[in-house]
Amino acid sequence: MTQAIGKPLNRVDGRLKVTGGAHYAAEIPLENLAYAVAIGSTIARGQIKSIDSQEAEKLPGVLRVITHENAPKLQPVKPFTKGGVVGEKPQPLQEPIVYHSGQHIGVVVANSLELATYAASLVRVIYEEETPIVDKNKVRQEAFEPETIFGKPPNFVRGNPEEGLSSADVRIEETYTTPTENHNPIEPPATIAMWEGDKLTVYDATQHAFGVREALATSFRIPQENVRVICHFIGGAFGCKGPVWPHVILAAIAGHEVGRPVKLVLKRQQMFDVIGHRPETEQHIKLGSTRDGRLTTIIHDGISPTSMFDEYVEAFTVATHVLYACPNLQASQRLIRLNKGTPTFMRAPGEAAGTFALESALDELAYALNLDPIELRLRNYADIDPDTNLPWSSKSLKECYRVGAENFGWSRRNREPRSMRDDGYLIGMGMATATFPANQSPAAIKARILADGSANVQSGTHEMGTGTATVMAQLAADILGLPVKRVRFELGDTEFPPAPVSHGSATVGSVGTALYGAATDVKVKVLEIARNDRNSPLYQVPENEVAIANGRLFIKNNPAKGETYADILARHHLEQVEADYQSLFDTEEKYSKHGFGAHFVEVRVDPDFGEVRITRYTGAFATGRILNQKTARSQFIGAIIMGIGMALMEETITDQSIGRVVNANLGDYHVPVNADIPNIDIHIVDEVDPYVNPIGTKGIGEIGITGAAAAVANAVYHATGKRIRNLPITPDKLI
Ligand code: MOS
Repeated sequence: MTQAIGKPLNRVDGRLKVTGGAHYAAEIPLENLAYAVAIGSTIARGQIKSIDSQEAEKLPGVLRVITHENAPKLQPVKPFTKGGVVGEKPQPLQEPIVYHSGQHIGVVVANSLELATYAASLVRVIYEEETPIVDKNKVRQEAFEPETIFGKPPNFVRGNPEEGLSSADVRIEETYTTPTENHNPIEPPATIAMWEGDKLTVYDATQHAFGVREALATSFRIPQENVRVICHFIGGAFGCKGPVWPHVILAAIAGHEVGRPVKLVLKRQQMFDVIGHRPETEQHIKLGSTRDGRLTTIIHDGISPTSMFDEYVEAFTVATHVLYACPNLQASQRLIRLNKGTPTFMRAPGEAAGTFALESALDELAYALNLDPIELRLRNYADIDPDTNLPWSSKSLKECYRVGAENFGWSRRNREPRSMRDDGYLIGMGMATATFPANQSPAAIKARILADGSANVQSGTHEMGTGTATVMAQLAADILGLPVKRVRFELGDTEFPPAPVSHGSATVGSVGTALYGAATDVKVKVLEIARNDRNSPLYQVPENEVAIANGRLFIKNNPAKGETYADILARHHLEQVEADYQSLFDTEEKYSKHGFGAHFVEVRVDPDFGEVRITRYTGAFATGRILNQKTARSQFIGAIIMGIGMALMEETITDQSIGRVVNANLGDYHVPVNADIPNIDIHIVDEVDPYVNPIGTKGIGEIGITGAAAAVANAVYHATGKRIRNLPITPDKLI
């Protein structure tokens, strides 16, 4: 398998995307389309007393105003937090209760977007408002333990953490906070719903086509087979298109009520209220260490908010379980309820915020011990998974530290804070560890060899912009012995075999494993036809003596003897040969499966204005087999950029008196732009993992953001001598 795999091939869909030929959900051309605009609550807590939509309905071209007073009654759907598919428990427009600002309280359908938008502005709502709870400090005493933190108990203890702390020579005890952040993919969430009788076709921007199908089928009490969900392209998602949010159901309600295809696209402002967010965290870390830098305890606890109705846990302690060898660990989290929508997964949910705290604390400990921060990490290197005592399926973190440090020039760093200057600016260098689990879940694939000798592979998975379509074609091409251009990988349709939600950096591991099985099976099927055929040059040739290249099967020792897939199918009058495969994964793990990496950052801080610029960035990652060097690099870079945004810019600000987001736009909610980002130097450390899955991949979409914010904060400390424990590191915190 070495022809296409690993090569930095261009995206198979690149041309379509740059020429505008790629149709995203909101761009599907349909006849007779109507437009829906969702009305959001202007209060964050209370009751709707009345809704007057008469004026809106009078406008010619307005088709319907749907509210809780006239919406169809929906069947409940299980939320994501309980193992279901929807983003939050309440179904839209079922009751007059407002739980959070921006909650959908109605939907207007009209002949044009402009008309629907105007009509929505005419709908008069009278509320009975209550004081919203959006400040966690006001309800701190009501914090409660969630049922579980990503499968771990909410109050996990290894060894004797208190004893480990009291016996330590050196202690670090600090609180770190991260703010609420919102997903801001370029493509807003969008749904087109088209009913024909009790059959529903939906074009949706989703990371989970089969989840959308399930949510809609359940909501409207129709069989799942009646719902088809299509999503060929996604303009970024980062987690917010993983669960099915109420606007998808609103679009289906609207389409049902007006009997026409209806399109509903969320506005950027609405994206801050109704598609989840990364909740703020308050994290307390206590580290104990011997004088020579061996950790005697790690205590990591804290709180994060959830909504009034779901229990979403921002699992900031999960990485702490595995990062360092330490006999004593306490990892515990509590939740508090606020009048906000249910938080959700956002790139490395848990790890991104958690590693900010832990990896900042490690840096503080390194200074307290006067040890190099890499040396401190090496002294506590976990040779096995410290929680489960399982061996790693593979771990190349030491190599990441070495490769990263060398390429970055870490040895040029003078350890003393505030000691390096350039042209009047303070210069700082920081580092941190990255880690993310190699998640995978069952997926199904259909692989076909067609009469012309090309291959067609189908799975209802998703192309979020990560390169799934490209790497799956590469993988299939190598297994089948075909050039990539002779493989067609089709995705994004519930007519194809079911794939899981594309999250947790799990798509390649899950779908790739299924593809490996299906492609191998279909290849063997074709070979069997030849081996049983007296007219084939491969008649009765043992399977292990046959090789394939360029669509031709031949005898390894005698390459002149062979024939093509097309020859075999033609002689047998076959249109195609196909194989279906369902990947399953052991529930009982023999190995602990994680990717690792290291970040190295140089910052330049203006000593007068506190402005932080990133001047250099090196990342080294070991995540098993890399299927495409180009798209992989792009994932690492993208996640690091998001980590820089997390470190320096991103923060959703809620007005504490009225409970509404005040910076719900890209002018006020800052994300990095090109001018903020230097050339990011990525080193992919070769790693062969024979255990993680048959294709040896660990997933790469999220690991790049883990540790990134800490590396920046550590560099800022090194530059300025100021330890910023509250993200983002804005200039006001440095002057
Ligand atoms: Mo990702 S945050 O698991 O979609």
